[in-house]
Amino acid sequence: MSDKKARRIARGTFLKGAGATLVLVAGGGVWRVADQGVFGVGEGPAYEPWKNWRPNEGEGPIELVRAAVLAANAHNSQPWLFRVEESRIDLFADRERNIGTVDPYLREMYMSLGCALENLLLAAEANGYGHELALLPDSSNPAHAARIDLTPAAASTTELYEAIPDRHTNRGPYDTGRAILRETLEALRELGEEDPEVSVFWFATDAERRRVGDLILEATEAITADEEQSVDNLGWNRFDWDELQRYRDGLTLDVFIADPLTNFAAKVLPPPSREQSDQSWLRSTREDVVGTAAAFGILAVNDKWEDAQRLRGGRAWQRMHLWGTTLGLAMQPLNQMTERADREAQSGIPHPSSWISRWSLRFSSSSVRRTAHLFALACRATFVRASCAMR
Ligand SMILES: Cc1cc2nc3c(=O)[nH]c(=O)nc-3n(C[C@H](O)[C@H](O)[C@H](O)COP(=O)(O)O)c2cc1C
Repeated sequence: MSDKKARRIARGTFLKGAGATLVLVAGGGVWRVADQGVFGVGEGPAYEPWKNWRPNEGEGPIELVRAAVLAANAHNSQPWLFRVEESRIDLFADRERNIGTVDPYLREMYMSLGCALENLLLAAEANGYGHELALLPDSSNPAHAARIDLTPAAASTTELYEAIPDRHTNRGPYDTGRAILRETLEALRELGEEDPEVSVFWFATDAERRRVGDLILEATEAITADEEQSVDNLGWNRFDWDELQRYRDGLTLDVFIADPLTNFAAKVLPPPSREQSDQSWLRSTREDVVGTAAAFGILAVNDKWEDAQRLRGGRAWQRMHLWGTTLGLAMQPLNQMTERADREAQSGIPHPSSWISRWSLRFSSSSVRRTAHLFALACRATFVRASCAMR
């Protein structure tokens, strides 16, 4: 039996008696405070990329990759590979880092690559490179997502570039006391729609938010009720400090739990079971996510099956999130509906009607109906609550 397995069993046993738990938490807790990095948030090799993201003199195009890897990406799976030459960077999908039944058609993988591409191009402009971009340059190799040819150019830094290390997905409760202005949503939409293949729709009235929220919750419940998808969904959680520092990927306790006391307790207590994790995800989706969102958005592309359009959708999201960061907006992608739709389509799970058509049926806007079957990414946004630490 491996050490890891042995430890899991010990923790499971430990949970059985409440009396014993208290004694052992007190005793074992001392060890876990140091062991689980309770006071080390943002420290260690896993967090170095945020500290060293700026180019070093004379480094060459590899410096652009430092900015690219700070991009949003599904489950923090970092599904990218870069080939760097003197005046060219090739971006590849690392299909081994697929998130399984959560993304059976690699939709989120290609959107993640699009996010990285956006950061890379912003970094190129800020660091004196002109660029020529070709999406999917090799028709015989779909893993070859993009080729960027670089030439010397005048450097032009933008606020989006400067926001790269500060952008984080915010999963905490949002500030319901501050309304998000229509003009802000409109400006975000215009930014996303700079690419003619991308459409952005916002749902901000009470009635709209209720209907979107209900669908998100239903999809979340369906994922937790599907064992295989639930396992894959939780598979990238890195709740063990050593594991987090070793793999430098996945989702940590810190990105889920902003409240310091709850965060502390989660780190020193034994890891939860799958069922407990699912219940906690459902609760936070209901209360913190759906319950406090000022607006939900849909990012749609014209053909959800085309990898090039997914790359474009990812670029648009990254741009929107960076701009939101400059304003102090909290934002979070929310993909339960699309993840569930893909899962049901791929595995032939019967459903009265797909999530996508149910979505379009619930909204009267003709523009949404027209593109609803194409949507790629849902998100929410509002201002950051002051106490909600991001990372
Ligand atoms: C295509 C895509 C889908 C995502 N889906 C979700 C989601 O459904 N829920 C969520 O909380 N975060 C989601 N994220 C956010 C990622 O988990 C996040 O970007 C990643 O963990 C890295 O963290 P960061 O954004 O704070 O840098 C998604 C990101 C991308 C690019």
